[in-house]
Amino acid sequence: MFSQLMFPFLLDVNNEGELHIETMSWLIILMGGCAFLALQFVDMPYGRYASSKFGFLINVKAAWFIQEIPSLAIPLYLLFINAGNKPVQLPNQLLLGMFICHYTHRSLLFPFLIRGGKPSPFIPFAMAFTFCAYNGYLQARYLIKYAVYSSNWITDPRFLTGSALWFLGLLVNLHSDHILRNLRKPGETGYKIPRGGMFQYVSSANFLGEIVEWMGFAVACWSLPSAAFAIFTFLILASRAAQHHRWYLEKFEDYPKTRMVLIPFLY
Ligand SMILES: NC(=O)c1ccc[n+]([C@@H]2O[C@H](COP(=O)([O-])OP(=O)(O)OC[C@H]3O[C@@H](n4cnc5c(N)ncnc54)[C@H](OP(=O)(O)O)[C@@H]3O)[C@@H](O)[C@H]2O)c1
Repeated sequence: MFSQLMFPFLLDVNNEGELHIETMSWLIILMGGCAFLALQFVDMPYGRYASSKFGFLINVKAAWFIQEIPSLAIPLYLLFINAGNKPVQLPNQLLLGMFICHYTHRSLLFPFLIRGGKPSPFIPFAMAFTFCAYNGYLQARYLIKYAVYSSNWITDPRFLTGSALWFLGLLVNLHSDHILRNLRKPGETGYKIPRGGMFQYVSSANFLGEIVEWMGFAVACWSLPSAAFAIFTFLILASRAAQHHRWYLEKFEDYPKTRMVLIPFLY
C-alpha cells in the first residue's frame, strides 16, 4: 500500500478503509490539477470575477456560511455522534482540533464579517459546498478512524514544526482577511490597494497564509489526505493569486511595482 510505504510510522492497517481514504485523497489531487488547468483560461468566478453566466447569484454571507459549514459539521458529527468505540488518541485529537478551529472561524465568523462582498454565482458555490463536504469527511474520517500515531508523535519534530507553521499561517490568513475587510467602510463595495502586514510583500497575503496553514497541517499529520488537501489549496489559491495580481496591476496605476504575487521576494 502506497501510504504505508510513504508513511511507515502509521501503524493502522485497515486495508479496505485505508484504500477508500487513499482513493479519495488522490481524487482531491486530481480535482486540484484539473481546476489549476481550467483556471489558466477562466478567472475563478466569484468575488471580483463573479458573473451570472455561472448561475443565479446568492447572497455572499449565506453562500460562504452554507458552502463552508460541511467542513465543520461533518467532523463534529463523526467525532461526537458516529465515532464508534475506539477512543480518539491525543495526537489525532490535536490534529483534528486544528482543522475544526479553522472551519469554526471560516463557517461561523468569516461569512458574517464580510463587507460589501459580491454575491456568489451558483456553480462556484455548489463546487465549494461539494469540496467542503468531501474534504471535511476525508480529513475527519482519516484522523478519527484510520490514523494511528506513535505515542510520542506530539514531540516529533514533524508535529512540532507542522503545528507551528499551521499556527503562523492561520495568523497571516486572519490578519490579511482583516486588512482586506477594513479597506471598505460599511456600505462600500469598491476596491482599494491593500497595505500593511504581508501585503507589503505579496498581492494575496490571505492566500499565502492559507497555503502555509495547510502545508503546516500536512507536515504535522504526515499523511496522504492532509498532503492532498495542501496540494489542492496551493493549486487553487496560486491560480487565484495570479489572477488578482494581474487585476491589481491593470486597475491601479500606482500599484506597488515591487510587490510579488504570492511568495515574498520570489513570485
Ligand atoms: N482552502 C482553499 O482551497 C480556499 C479556496 C478559496 C478561498 N479560501 C480562503 O477563503 C478566504 C476568502 O477567499 P476569497 O477568494 O474570497 O478572497 P479575496 O478574493 O481576497 O476576497 C476576500 C474578501 O475581501 C474583499 N476584498 C478583496 N480584495 C479587496 C480589495 N482590494 N479592496 C476591497 N475589498 C477587497 C472581497 O470582496 P469582493 O467579494 O467584493 O471581491 C472579499 O469580501 C481567504 O482567506 C482564502 O484563503 C480558501
